[in-house]
Amino acid sequence: MSSDAFVRFKRKTIAFGPQIGDLAATKRDREFLDEVYLREMNFAAGGVGCAAWDGAIILARFLRRIRNTLAGRRVHEVGAGVGLPGIVAARYAASCVLSDYIPSLVENLDYNIALNGARRRVDEAPAAPDTPNAAALHGDAAEDVIEEYRGALRQRVSHAATAAVLDWEEFPSLPECEQERFKCDIIIGSEVTYSQIQSAGIPALFALVDATLSADGVFYTIQSVNRETHGFVCAQMRARGFDVAAVAVPKEEAAAETTGQITENYAYYTFRRPNSSFPVMGLEVGGTLIEDDDAFAVLCAPPPELDKSIIASALA
Ligand SMILES: C[S@@+](CC[C@H](N)C(=O)[O-])C[C@H]1O[C@@H](n2cnc3c(N)ncnc32)[C@H](O)[C@@H]1O
Repeated sequence: MSSDAFVRFKRKTIAFGPQIGDLAATKRDREFLDEVYLREMNFAAGGVGCAAWDGAIILARFLRRIRNTLAGRRVHEVGAGVGLPGIVAARYAASCVLSDYIPSLVENLDYNIALNGARRRVDEAPAAPDTPNAAALHGDAAEDVIEEYRGALRQRVSHAATAAVLDWEEFPSLPECEQERFKCDIIIGSEVTYSQIQSAGIPALFALVDATLSADGVFYTIQSVNRETHGFVCAQMRARGFDVAAVAVPKEEAAAETTGQITENYAYYTFRRPNSSFPVMGLEVGGTLIEDDDAFAVLCAPPPELDKSIIASALA
């Protein structure tokens, strides 16, 4: 890949957790406890997944909030792009496969996993560390506390995260032993269903979700409701027997940290197997359930070509 004249890389840091350091003059003043380091590519090298989308930041923040729920779970990030949510999930889950269908993106996912992993991997992953309290983060021993905390997260990423090439449309033709790798309890994906141009890809993704998710599993996805696919997505997952919940992402949450993209109206989508006990994404930050067609209309003016009957039946 590095010999390809079209490949250009860029580094980005996405920050979570409390800010650390309190002296304006120090580098720490601009640092946060949990940071994810990403190498992004240019479009010619990686296509639409070459850089983190806003939905990836929103999803990653949610995953950090439900970190205790991820403990012991197998996670799969589909259409991972540069892998931000998958790397956050790997810090807390038993395992996390980050997949995409473009080989250069998957090479870059390997790179980003290493970038957020441990330099020297210990034999056994430590338990996910508790967030240190504010006093410990600013006291005399702060450096040691921060290093120990970050070291544990790095070890967890090195133990849990792996990258894989996976095209949703090709999943059914994979040998059973290869399909096995994608069996999981939680599937995550940001902005993977935003366009009907992927007309064969979206139903193939839902078939993959259905085939690989455990009996009490959940599929969490984020997308802008300004896109034309939201009704279609809900209808398809309902038809597969999933409980569907769409929650509007509160404006402050969507604006908390962005990639600088055009502002869109985002929704959290939770697709749960019946009787699944995983939480509905977004309610924990005061997001409102989108109950019906009128509620969607408040969020966005549907594009003229949208078939509103699809939304009505999806939300019925
Ligand atoms: C809009 S990008 C979002 C990337 C990333 N999830 C994010 O939010 O930053 C959509 C991603 O889905 C991947 N994708 C599209 N169709 C796919 C397919 N059939 N199989 C696997 N991945 C696919 C693309 O390569 C791309 O990384």
